[in-house]
Amino acid sequence: MSTKHLLALLNSHVEGDEEQFLSIALQVAAQEARQGRTEDADKLKRLVQKARDQQRTGRPAGGQTLVPLARPRGELQGLVESAYPKGTLASMVLSDDVRGRLARLVRQQQERAALRDHGQTPTTHMLLVGPPGTGKTMTASALAGELHLPLFTVRLEALFSRFFGETAGKLRLLFDQVAQTRGVYLLDEFDAIGARRGDPNDVGEIRRVLNSVLAFMEEPNSTDSLVLAATNHVEILDEALARRFDEVIEYGLPDPAAALGIIERRLGKFKLAARSWESIGPALDGLSQAELGRAADAVVKDAILEGAAKISPDALRQALQNRQTLKGKFRRQIGR
Ligand SMILES: Nc1ncnc2c1ncn2[C@@H]1O[C@H](COP(=O)(O)OP(=O)(O)OP(=O)(O)O)[C@@H](O)[C@H]1O
Ligand SMILES: [Mg+2]
Repeated sequence: MSTKHLLALLNSHVEGDEEQFLSIALQVAAQEARQGRTEDADKLKRLVQKARDQQRTGRPAGGQTLVPLARPRGELQGLVESAYPKGTLASMVLSDDVRGRLARLVRQQQERAALRDHGQTPTTHMLLVGPPGTGKTMTASALAGELHLPLFTVRLEALFSRFFGETAGKLRLLFDQVAQTRGVYLLDEFDAIGARRGDPNDVGEIRRVLNSVLAFMEEPNSTDSLVLAATNHVEILDEALARRFDEVIEYGLPDPAAALGIIERRLGKFKLAARSWESIGPALDGLSQAELGRAADAVVKDAILEGAAKISPDALRQALQNRQTLKGKFRRQIGR
């Protein structure tokens, strides 16, 4: 093997670019074959194949994670929250359509090497739209968990308010990280870009941010990092922006079956007698996944502290009712 190849190999290792690493290994194999050392060439090719297979099954080579422990450094510190979530999509209650689309995304990401071999790239940019508490943040976390990737979260509204006038520059730093460090990036409160457009003090800043985000969305991303943008208000998003996403996934309040599914999951071993479920039905109406979860948690906590083995349907109905009341009050207060 030539020094040139060794240098290139080390370089791709340092950069964390596994695709490049494997493709150089194949070049070395080809060179060995040309020089008549077919046995070594075959060994190399088999190893590369093995590495690719492991990528495809999502099992990292050597049983350890390939993603370096990445924490935002320097100026990004304090802007970006990083986490290594353990969640999975299986722990979420989702419609068949949404589950199917997320599963396809995970598969494309896991087998991105195979796609790239054929000149294709996996889905990377997704817009998650829906009312509060319907699972957008949870989805980002579950995708990071499924893919064994770090989750980096930026709240755009916080970025605007803290770094007025410098937001576009701060975003640039983030986008550079997207290109360098493979991960799941959640741009939360994405509508902040659209929402501030009417504000006369903000016009120049918003233009800069919008242009910066539009340009970023067009940049090729060799790490295939996932970029997820979440918003409650799709209606105020710039159309030019919305068009740049590979996929738009809509979240909504759960239907009765999904609502019961969420509660059942959260009750865990504190089961409810099968015949009691029917009486719960009406109390579920209009509550988000998050509110249902909170109500279930409240009764579970009571049951634990009271030493009860089961929860009573009355307690659950009451907890749900409390949530409904809270929601009603809150809505009136903010005048919706
Ligand atoms: N589809 C779901 N399946 C199971 N639990 C869910 C689901 N959606 C939400 N939850 C529960 O609600 C909590 C809050 O959900 P999440 O933070 O994902 O909402 P969100 O859509 O990001 O809301 P917001 O717009 O307010 O940020 C989750 O931590 C989880 O406990
Ligand atoms: Mg959220």
